[in-house]
Amino acid sequence: MSLAIVTGAARGIGQAIAARLVESGHAVLLVDLDERVHHTSTELGGHGVRADISQPAGVERIVDAVRALGVEPRVLVNNAGITRDSLLRNMDEDAFRAVVRVNLGGTYALTEAIAPLLVDDGAVVNISSRAQLGNVGQFNYGIAKGGVIGLTRAHALALAPRLRVNAVAPGFVESEMTLAMPTEARQRVVDAIPLGSPGQPLDIAEAVDWLASDAASYVTGQVLYSCGGRSFA
Ligand SMILES: NC(=O)c1ccc[n+]([C@@H]2O[C@H](COP(=O)([O-])OP(=O)(O)OC[C@H]3O[C@@H](n4cnc5c(N)ncnc54)[C@H](O)[C@@H]3O)[C@@H](O)[C@H]2O)c1
Repeated sequence: MSLAIVTGAARGIGQAIAARLVESGHAVLLVDLDERVHHTSTELGGHGVRADISQPAGVERIVDAVRALGVEPRVLVNNAGITRDSLLRNMDEDAFRAVVRVNLGGTYALTEAIAPLLVDDGAVVNISSRAQLGNVGQFNYGIAKGGVIGLTRAHALALAPRLRVNAVAPGFVESEMTLAMPTEARQRVVDAIPLGSPGQPLDIAEAVDWLASDAASYVTGQVLYSCGGRSFA
């Protein structure tokens, strides 16, 4: 059995990814800031570690947890992310820095730390966002998630041929992150989705599972949009 490490896995998309990877036969290490990570990992029959991916001590904690498990790590899914939305003219620097530090900085730091531990033919899957194409009120998030795509390509080149590195860019997915949006704004976004409904965490989990699997063994440096057609509408 091999190990898959999934960040931001206490809830939402990360939880669905961890559950899907368990179905595919992986042992899973769920990582999250939220203490619910212990409950979720018990529910899925996995292992949980509470850690902040945006802090060096958090990254170290995750590396220690991986080593302590003694199971060959094969997959890293960088899913943890935050939003701090506001219009550009109202954006304060803290909100800009925090979103870049977690979404982009955390993904970079954890990949650098975990990649050397992954077995040959292992895979890294990063969670970007359709928002990297531009969303009013999300310029900090869009920049960070665009950066994740640049990072995906850079790591795909740097880690080839040993590892593959790809990204999934979700559109609007029902989770605590999007439930926090005002109802009218949510409806406007859903109305603009060509496939007519919001995505579910499982939709993203299926895309991640495929990119992490041997079925995608000739795919690296790519971005898979799972967004109901919103990337071109
Ligand atoms: N929901 C959407 O519509 C949507 C769309 C595009 C991309 N995404 C991306 O998908 C990912 C998952 O989103 P979600 O909707 O499940 O959000 P969510 O807020 O429900 O879950 C995110 C998880 O990440 C954890 N987290 C945040 N900062 C962390 C840190 N520094 N260290 C460790 N864990 C941390 C949170 O505690 C939470 O459990 C995020 O990267 C998000 O940006 C979501």
